[in-house]
Amino acid sequence: MSETFYDVIRPHGGVLVDRVLRGEVREAVQERAEQMAKIPLSPMGFSDLELLANGALSPLTGFMRKADYDRCVEEMRLSNGLVWAIPITMPVEQELAERIKEGQEVALCEGDRVLAVMEVEEKYPYDRETKEREAREVYKTTEEAHPGVARVYGLGDVLLGGDVWLVDWPSAAKTEFPELRHTPAQTRRMFARRGWRSVVGFQTRNPIHRAHEYIQKTALEIVDGLFLHPLVGETKIDDIPADVRIASYQTILRDYYPAERVLLGVFPAAMRYAGPREAIWHAIARKNYGCTHFIVGRDHAGVGKYYGTYDAQNIFNQFSPDEIGITPLKFEHAFYCKKCRAVVSAKTCPHGREDWVFLSGTQVREMLERGEMLPEEFTRPEVARVLLEGVQQQRRGAE
Ligand code: ADX
Repeated sequence: MSETFYDVIRPHGGVLVDRVLRGEVREAVQERAEQMAKIPLSPMGFSDLELLANGALSPLTGFMRKADYDRCVEEMRLSNGLVWAIPITMPVEQELAERIKEGQEVALCEGDRVLAVMEVEEKYPYDRETKEREAREVYKTTEEAHPGVARVYGLGDVLLGGDVWLVDWPSAAKTEFPELRHTPAQTRRMFARRGWRSVVGFQTRNPIHRAHEYIQKTALEIVDGLFLHPLVGETKIDDIPADVRIASYQTILRDYYPAERVLLGVFPAAMRYAGPREAIWHAIARKNYGCTHFIVGRDHAGVGKYYGTYDAQNIFNQFSPDEIGITPLKFEHAFYCKKCRAVVSAKTCPHGREDWVFLSGTQVREMLERGEMLPEEFTRPEVARVLLEGVQQQRRGAE
């Protein structure tokens, strides 16, 4: 098969990683793994494993060894100097770690089912001091109120580093949006088949609102294709569930987007809420999927008031463009202006706050829970109906 799909943009580090075992080798390893020490994975572990296996985290071939972890935390680089902003680690409890030796193979599991084999090359401490350093450097706060920091503090006290080989996909990878779960190798081919020479990636953990549509379509004016890539791994409990978000995407795509210029796929990653650092990581993963451009709007991957509105854009200035490879498209905070009767930003609208319609994620969620439609200036009615239905259904399920 032709390799021309690599021509548009090279994966991070130059080679698209594939850690999926197939055929007889897979069967043999799977059988051998039954005798290995079993490590239970968390939901984030399932996500990271899937992304490592399918190449979305190229050039990583496994969970980080200490040299990569330390340099990633301190300098946003791997030990070989490549830019890498978010640690990808395998934490385990002390008690389990004591039963594992360096050089040993272990089985990464979902319940009793073996998903992957990992060669434990290194075992290193993940004590409170190390976690606080990660919190300070990666999340820019040591406060436990930050959901990403709270998660880090709650993890086991030892990290295992080493390469992984996948023998079976996590169940989410098989059952949640299988028709939209394109791998990086697949999206690269899909973009090439469509003849797209430039593709903008869009990360989101939210339903699609008018401001999202505005920045996506503005970006689409200057590139060939738009890759809508909502994140479907673990999110905060108060974020809108992934199936409702995907339904909102499918609705708006059907009615308001040119089908031949847009591809919808799901990004199996878990949210870290690490703001600027996560924006770099999101961009590099989308480069691996074959995107040439990546949208970074206001407070990308942020939470609460931990990051400045444009910190996630400014962080890209710390690197030369060729180190990142993918081009960030930076957008001002966009919103609807009643006088302009359009979605605008402070850059393009002469009016003031009193004419601008703002709704926070929390306000949106509260309105939907009360059974109220969202204002048309904020969300298209077709989308609001899908969200309303989804959130109400979720409430009924919880009762
Ligand atoms: S994120 O956590 O996945 O980044 P979200 O789904 O809110 O959150 O945002 C997706 C992308 O759209 C991010 O790049 C974000 O910065 C951008 N964005 C969201 N809302 C706006 C807005 N009103 N104006 C400009 N950019 C926005």
